[in-house]
Amino acid sequence: MTETQQPPFDPLGSVTWPVRTARLLLRRAEPRDAEATWTYRQLPEFAQWQSGAPATFATYAAQFEQPGSLAKTLVVELDGTVIGDLLISVQDAWAQDEVTEQARGVQADLGCGLHPAHNGHGYATEALGEVLRLCFDELQLRRVTADCFADNTASRRLMERVGMRREAYTVRDSLHRSGAWLDGTAYALLQEEWRRKGPLPFIVAECRSCRSGPVQGDTS
Ligand SMILES: CC(C)(COP(=O)(O)OP(=O)(O)OC[C@H]1O[C@@H](n2cnc3c(N)ncnc32)[C@H](O)[C@@H]1OP(=O)(O)O)[C@@H](O)C(=O)NCCC(=O)NCCS
Repeated sequence: MTETQQPPFDPLGSVTWPVRTARLLLRRAEPRDAEATWTYRQLPEFAQWQSGAPATFATYAAQFEQPGSLAKTLVVELDGTVIGDLLISVQDAWAQDEVTEQARGVQADLGCGLHPAHNGHGYATEALGEVLRLCFDELQLRRVTADCFADNTASRRLMERVGMRREAYTVRDSLHRSGAWLDGTAYALLQEEWRRKGPLPFIVAECRSCRSGPVQGDTS
């Protein structure tokens, strides 16, 4: 098949959106979300950890509205207000030449950011926990990954809270825009590890009050 015959790559298109959690609604990002996400993405305390820090809304919106960017971005709503965003970037795994086809689209790199006004309530944990469920239960991915600067303590704590396993710590390999070479961390989780761990304890607690059915325990 030639490249022009390929259908648009939209792995998240197989999910029925929006998706609700105990307190939040997750939906696919739309161009109109550029404004709401810019309110926090422009803040220095947020931007310090991001790869890009566009100087103007126009530059930010142009990047946000790219079809390739929208295709992998979700927004997080609390009571109808956008309070954060998530990234699910489905990718190929590394493979030897003979088996590259079997490694196509089997994993995802994840990202998560919240408006600082909404930190400290477990919203990112709740949203990322649901993203793991979507990745493993619905998209049937075999592995998810997430990277951050080692100094980004809130991000590391988040990944650990949702059960991701730290699989790399790299020393002064990443150049920050401040000019400093910083340490990095890489987290990952396999589908079988996620199934073994069972639901996040806090989600179980939330569901105890909102569902009448049997509650699964944390088996970690
Ligand atoms: C990474 C980021 C999303 C984490 O946000 P956060 O508010 O710390 O995470 P949560 O929303 O899950 O809240 C967890 C905190 O709320 C507390 N909490 C309160 N209720 C909770 C609940 N029901 N469930 C879980 N945690 C709860 C937790 O104890 C935790 O506080 P602690 O870190 O002091 O122990 C945020 O710091 C951020 O947006 N950073 C900038 C962007 C970024 O760096 N992204 C990551 C790199 S891509």
